[in-house]
Amino acid sequence: MIRVLVSDPISEQGLGKLLEADDIQVDIKPGLPEEELCNIIGEFDALLVRSQTKVTAKMLEHATRLRVIGRAGVGVDNIDVPAATQHGIVVINAPDGNTISTAEHTFAMMMAMARKIPQAYASIQRGEWDRKTFVGVELNNKVLGIIGLGRIGAEVAKRAQAFGMTVLAYDPFLSPQRADSLNVKQCTVDEIVQQADFITVHTPLIKETKYLIAEREFGMMKDGVRILNCARGGIIKEEALIQALKSGKVAGAALDVFEEEPIAKDHPLKDFPNVVLTPHLGASTEEAQINVAIDVAEEIIKVLRDEPFKNA
Ligand code: NAD
Ligand code: MLT
Repeated sequence: MIRVLVSDPISEQGLGKLLEADDIQVDIKPGLPEEELCNIIGEFDALLVRSQTKVTAKMLEHATRLRVIGRAGVGVDNIDVPAATQHGIVVINAPDGNTISTAEHTFAMMMAMARKIPQAYASIQRGEWDRKTFVGVELNNKVLGIIGLGRIGAEVAKRAQAFGMTVLAYDPFLSPQRADSLNVKQCTVDEIVQQADFITVHTPLIKETKYLIAEREFGMMKDGVRILNCARGGIIKEEALIQALKSGKVAGAALDVFEEEPIAKDHPLKDFPNVVLTPHLGASTEEAQINVAIDVAEEIIKVLRDEPFKNA
């Protein structure tokens, strides 16, 4: 019998094909500590994770039977991919299923920040009726800078244009033809930080993108710029953002991801009235969670049955 371990909460509706296969036994055990995972991982042929499980080199030392790790989502930064490769374990992800959800979340964050909706709601909850404090700004006629114009960045661009925004974009792999077809102006990062009213990042967190937006870039921005990160903590340097919020350079920030997750109870970003925070909810819709589970389950079955599959 082929054995699959699901170690994070993943949509069971989406896992249907795995659960229905006669030759596959699926154990669903979310939330196990690393020690316990190390103890049991040797019994499994496949491991399916979202982002909570950290697949470490230490765990992989015990994974004597493991052939494939499936990530129900895009980023594989919670998996030690070089260690997996060393052990001959394939790592696959589900890059398409949560694109729309994350683009919509980015847009929801942009609007919530621009119109101070969470702050106004909190004020109403406190029994107030304050119409002066929560004056916002329009998106119409504003310049949006998108850094990373892949799947999510492109969907954000389309939504921004529908709201009357001009879109500037930087992506090292963006061709002029693709920029034209998306109706975005191709720019450098420096041009974007100098010209944009809103800046959003949609890159992976890799060596080249760590602290892509830091003190130097904040220094070049327009006064009153608004910043979004629904990609990965650490693309924007939190310490530099905090200084830019304190100085008033940045008028608002909307963040779904953080350098350390979950964030500390006394994290300084929680103290700013013009910062909107969500706990890594970009992909948290019913649709996206089913989509990514279906995609990753299909690919895992292919690997386990020695059929051609898509790699991360
Ligand atoms: P994608 O691979 O389609 O797009 C990423 C883009 O970044 C690519 O076009 C790539 O060329 C570009 N890029 C690479 N290096 C760059 C650099 N140095 N500067 C600028 N651009 C660069 O990925 P995606 O599906 O659009 O996901 C984007 C990010 O969003 C990833 O970090 C992913 O993990 C994250 N994500 C977060 C959530 C969430 O819940 N908040 C959900 C899904 C994805
Ligand atoms: C991703 O990279 O797909 C996201 O972090 C979504 C998630 O699994 O929460």
